[in-house]
Amino acid sequence: MSHIRLIATAKANTNIALIKYWGKRDEKLILPMNSSLSVTLDNFYTITTVEFTDTLTEDKLIWDQAPGNYEELIKISSFLDIIRKKSGINLHAKVITENHVPTAAGFASSASGYAALAAAATKALGLNLSHKELSIIARQGSGSACRSVYGGFVEWQKGSMEDGSDSYAYQILNENAWNITILSVMVASGQKKVSSRDGMKRTVETSPFYKGWLSTVNEDLEEAKKAIRNRDFVSLGEVVERTALKMHATMLGAIPPIIYLESGTLEVMNRVQELRQNGFPAYFTIDAGPNVKVLCQPENESRIKQALMELGSVQKVISCNPGEGVRYLSEHLV
Ligand code: PMV
Repeated sequence: MSHIRLIATAKANTNIALIKYWGKRDEKLILPMNSSLSVTLDNFYTITTVEFTDTLTEDKLIWDQAPGNYEELIKISSFLDIIRKKSGINLHAKVITENHVPTAAGFASSASGYAALAAAATKALGLNLSHKELSIIARQGSGSACRSVYGGFVEWQKGSMEDGSDSYAYQILNENAWNITILSVMVASGQKKVSSRDGMKRTVETSPFYKGWLSTVNEDLEEAKKAIRNRDFVSLGEVVERTALKMHATMLGAIPPIIYLESGTLEVMNRVQELRQNGFPAYFTIDAGPNVKVLCQPENESRIKQALMELGSVQKVISCNPGEGVRYLSEHLV
């Protein structure tokens, strides 16, 4: 008897938010309180193969060549349920995923992970989705994943519908339209992190500053979009740095406070501001962790990289440029 085997592989790059998403208005559908904007990175990515088959009695996860952990499998299974429901095909799946994202160093792989998983699973089940539809699905795995469907500079519009049908990402500029450098600066860290999911929830529920975040994030987003369209690096950098600090300020007001900034983080922030005073335009942004991303122009990359590497707390600096959106591969990981 021959078995059913529906298989596809997709590759998705991670992205870094220039205007952050911080706070959900719907936890289950992952609907954000504010719109956000990101750049997809060329060097950090996930490749995922999904194989739906009638030979399995439950979903299976292979994560970087080892059995995936149980909590991750539960999350992935309920995400696959959304896709199974949409396609009407109720088969269990084997998910094999390879992360080329320095997760051990605190870089999140959830954006590239859920974008690749959404693409591979929908393709395997024969759903030919538009980028917009794929973005809506990826969003339900991890909010930032909806932006990784596209390359280059991307906006996730928050939408206002209760069912999430207008909460998806779209491309502002493709990856070849404007070249900037994004340096990922890893700093020594001793702290255990609060997940972005828990951090956002606590901020929305308890921080008196959260209202302030919501009252200016739209202006910041408009300013950033304008700067991207005009290829105006300095204007982009200024708003990116300012908005990241505002997001961290909201968290400092949460009860109990959420402090992602560590001494190494502050050391890098100071050096970036010093570089600027010395005529090298560079701007930082920081997510839910101690590492720093530094934006600079490609012509200043090596000088800035060197200045950051000199710092005692800096362990590694990896440079990226704007990268591509989701693509399908013909070779599978099985
Ligand atoms: O989508 P999540 O759960 O990985 O959260 C992303 C949170 C930030 O990275 C801090 C901001 C963002 O917009 O990517």
